[in-house]
Formats: sequence, structure tokens, C-alpha cells
Amino acid sequence: MFSITADLKKRKTSELIVFPFWEGPKGAKPAADLADLKKGVKPPLDEKDFQGELKETALVYLSSSIEKRCLILGLGKHGDVSVERLRQAYAEAVKVAQQMALSKISVVFPSIVELGSLKENEAIEGVCEGLLLPNYRWEDLQTLAEETILLKKIQLIGILPKKMNEVKKWEAIAEGVHFARDLINGNADDVTPQFLGSAAKKVAASFSTVTATVFDKKRILKEKLGLLEAVSRGSAKDPAFIILSHKGAPKSKDHTVLVGKGVTYDTGGLNLKPTGSMETMRDDMSGAATALSTVATAAALKLKCNVTAVIPTTENGIDAKSFKPGDVYTGYSGMSVEIGNTDAEGRLILADALAYSVKKLKPTRMIDLATLTGAAIVALGHELAALFSNDEKLAEKLLDAGEASSETLWRLPLFASYNKKLKSSVADINNTGGRAAGCVTAALFLQNFVGKVSWAHIDIAGPAFQSSEIGYWPKNGVGFGVRLLVHFLSNLK
Ligand code: BES
Ligand code: ZN
Ligand code: ZN
Repeated sequence: MFSITADLKKRKTSELIVFPFWEGPKGAKPAADLADLKKGVKPPLDEKDFQGELKETALVYLSSSIEKRCLILGLGKHGDVSVERLRQAYAEAVKVAQQMALSKISVVFPSIVELGSLKENEAIEGVCEGLLLPNYRWEDLQTLAEETILLKKIQLIGILPKKMNEVKKWEAIAEGVHFARDLINGNADDVTPQFLGSAAKKVAASFSTVTATVFDKKRILKEKLGLLEAVSRGSAKDPAFIILSHKGAPKSKDHTVLVGKGVTYDTGGLNLKPTGSMETMRDDMSGAATALSTVATAAALKLKCNVTAVIPTTENGIDAKSFKPGDVYTGYSGMSVEIGNTDAEGRLILADALAYSVKKLKPTRMIDLATLTGAAIVALGHELAALFSNDEKLAEKLLDAGEASSETLWRLPLFASYNKKLKSSVADINNTGGRAAGCVTAALFLQNFVGKVSWAHIDIAGPAFQSSEIGYWPKNGVGFGVRLLVHFLSNLK
């Protein structure tokens, strides 16, 4: 994808060159040495048609340069520069290139000496992620629409060739995000529990540090993963329980377990979802996609940490065999659960996965990711995920990773007094706690299955899936959490 040319004057030709500008009090100011582009880009600057505001673009046709076209790109005010603003600006350039169906472009870096508070590697992060994250399409099922042309070759201008390793890192991470998006976007009838199991095995086959274990239905019954089994009863497809491990620090006992909700389609079960609430429910395995892809990405980056994805996966279908509201089921932990609502299925399969992980996997910490509640969307909308944790330090680190990746988390309380909402008169606990603070009671339900282990729950129901694109997030599956977790894992000690 990438090549690097340190000096603008030594660049090779391409279909378009992207050149950055700062927004200044006297108009736009070049953010790097203009050299032979100067003549071409002067008119829009002289006419004040281009101010250099963040994400502002103008297309200029050049006669005295080796490229025919230059896209001048606004980075906003120099003093406001940040990794995220670079992501946003360079993503805008990719969108222009996509509209023009270009596949080979050159991209000029803002001059490093001018970046001030930003370190060179942070500039590389912002520019590379801005270029790579929107360079994605999901049109596999559209046979009539015109195909989006993706960028195939990008010449980076203005950084040293020795930075290629750094660039490759962001390429691997973007690949991980795209992998998660593909899993989320695929038809529910294609991306089944078995499909996720095979995907995990493929990851294991690709990396020597990775192993995969997939429990089939028989093994799930044998292991007494009874809540996962209960949810799976209404589906024609068998459930699976996936354990995917990257051992990057074999001598260390430190072990991060990522539990991902893998409901491949959520009809709601016998408490059937109404029309209008079901149509996007193939996204209900977004947590699983993120956990799986994070382990794959950790392996690709050779991260020196031990991380395991634990994925309980099933469809929440509807059938004569379905599990029933009002009935009581017992899962791995031995706690009996009254089913207040079959649509609160995510917490049931997560309960089994968390209890299993505590008992069998010696976790130092557990982080679960789940499209768990509509209430998290009501509280925080579609650009924030809700964070709950029983460990201040873990919460702090996750909030930091969220800020660094701009996959932003907002902490909500595990307010103990609301445990009373989960009381059952027939079982140890009820799986629903009423409408009010629905994402808090869901998190409190999960807390019953983590024991004393350091744990965080991230409700990604809001950001996991978008009805229209937002900046470098595409429509449909976002792959939310992969970048956040890679940041988190990279910063472990
Ligand atoms: N998968 C849904 C949550 C969801 C809703 C995710 C919208 C993404 C978009 C979950 O299984 C669910 O249905 N939760 C119920 C729980 C309720 C019955 C206690 C909800 O949030 O309404
Ligand atoms: Zn549900
Ligand atoms: Zn669900």
C-alpha cells in the first residue's frame, strides 16, 4: 500500500497529490515545503477561496508539476493539531479520491518541525489512520451498484524511509478493523457461530503464537454452559464457544481475557422484537468480531502480551424449542436465572463466558464487549460506548486508550443499590431489571459472574453499527474497539 519519499522534489508521479495547509489569520499557510507545486496552488490562495479550515479541500489542476492534480487539504489551526484532527483531515482527502475513482495517490505530511506538541510518530498515526480507515467498502451483496474504487498505492512524502515499520503498524491495525467490519456486515445466514469458529481457526493457522479451541454443542452441554445452550434452543444452527489465544509473553503470567458477545442474529426470541427493531440485528456479534480481530491484530503486531478472546456465539432465534420467559435456567456458575425477557440474551451468554474464564483461564483482567442494551444508545448515542468497571485503574487505562484511539468511552456506575431490580422470587437472579437505567442493571447482572477479578464491561450498542457514515467510520459495521484495545494492550507495562 505505502511507499515513502522523504523529499518532495524526489517524488514519483501519481494520479493526485494531497498537500496540507494550516488555517492562519492571513489565510491558508502551507504545512510543508511547496517547491514546484507553488505556482499551481497560488490562485485559490490569492482569491481566498481556500482558508485551510479542518477538512476543507479544493482541487487544483497543475501544469508545471509531474502530477496533473493537487488536492489542497485544510488541517485547521496549527495550535489545535492533534492525532484525531489529522485522522479527520486525511480521511477527507481519501473520500475525494474515492469520488474521483483514483487508486494511486501521493500524500504530503505536515512538516514535522512545525507540529509543535505532536510527536512524529503521532503524526504518522493520524495521517496513516486517516488514509486507511475510510479506505473500505462493503458492497458484496450489491450487484448493480457501481463499485467504490479503493486506494491501492499511497506515496507518503515528507517522512524518513526508516519510518516504514511505524507505517506498517497502522496498516496492520486498519486491516484488523476491516476484518471486524467484514464479520459484522456479512449476512447473518453466512456469519453463523460455525463461521466465527472457522474464522478463529484460520487466525490460529496464520500465526505461530495463536491457538484456537472451538466447543461444539455437545461440548457446550458437557461443560454445563447452560445459559448459552438455553439461548441457542430457538435456532436451527448450533451454538459455539470459541477460545482464541495469542501468547506473546510466554514467560509472563499476565493475561487479558476479552469476552465478546457473539449473537449472530437477535430476533429477541419468544419476546420477539417488533418490526423496526430487528433489521440491523446481524450486528449483535460486533463484540465477538472485535475480540476476535483484536487477538489477530495483536498477533500480527507481535505484541508482547498474553491475550485471549472468549466468544460465546449463537443465534437468538424463535422456534417451538425456544427457551421461555418465566422459566429458570442454570449456567456455568451454578446460579439459577429467571428469564424475565428472552431479548436480554446477551447477558446470559456473557455470564457463562465470564464465569468460565474466571474458573479456567487465570485472567489478570477481563474486558467484555457487547452490543448489550438499547438503553446505552438512549444514554450516550451512537458515538460513545458505555464503560463499567469494578477496578479504578483498569477503568482509567481504558478511558486513556479510548482517548488515544478516539474510540471514546464514557464511564457509568455499577450502582449497587440497583441490584434489587434484578431480584427474582423463583431463582437466584432475574435477567432483566426494568427500563430505567437498563444499561446499568445489565452491567450489574454481569458483575455477579466475575468474582473478584479485575473487570470492565463495554456496552458498544451505540457505536458498533451506523445508519450513515460519520467521518472515517463507514455506514454499517464500524469495527469499534479494535483500535482501542490494541492501544490498551500495547501500553500494558
Ligand atoms: N442486542 C440487543 C441490544 C441492542 C439494541 C443492540 C439496539 C443494538 C441496537 C439486546 O439483546 C437487547 O435486545 N436488549 C434489550 C434488553 C431488555 C429486554 C432488558 C433492550 O435493550 O431492549
Ligand atoms: Zn436481545
Ligand atoms: Zn442482543
